[in-house]
Amino acid sequence: MVTLLNTVEDKVAREVCRQYGDRPEELLEIFHTVQAQSGYISDEAIRTIAHALNRSRAEIHGVASFYHDYKREPGAKKTLKICRAEACQANGSDQLIEEAEQMFGTKLDAKAKDVKLEATYCLGNCALGPAVMVDEALYGRVDAKRLEMIAKKHGAKQKGAAS
Ligand code: FES
Repeated sequence: MVTLLNTVEDKVAREVCRQYGDRPEELLEIFHTVQAQSGYISDEAIRTIAHALNRSRAEIHGVASFYHDYKREPGAKKTLKICRAEACQANGSDQLIEEAEQMFGTKLDAKAKDVKLEATYCLGNCALGPAVMVDEALYGRVDAKRLEMIAKKHGAKQKGAAS
């Protein structure tokens, strides 16, 4: 039976909060570390963090929801961020997106199990568009051929590839 007193629901989140001294001002670092270890920030993690930091669940949930980079549910094994802002569009990001959708058998911003293609708006690499980011690594002048090499390097499985 789950009771209101059972507040340590996510052991990873509890340990991470402890590492940061249960300090509310470290909330973003706590989120970052929980996501790095668990892959996303679960409802259980939100409740555990709220209790550890002595804040309301609504407050913790609100912060987690505000930042686009924090995932609230299990995501794809790999996320390829493709810039769609003006400079990258002028250099062919729309075509790259079409090619990427065919390559990985998914649509931009659709939920995916293996590879998610995510639209992003400026990665600070405007002079070298189209820009792509995978696992915090930034690539410029990406075309279909280069995207294939990047995918291979990061272990992003292409449509029809063997597991
Ligand atoms: S517009 Fe794409 S990186 Fe800036």
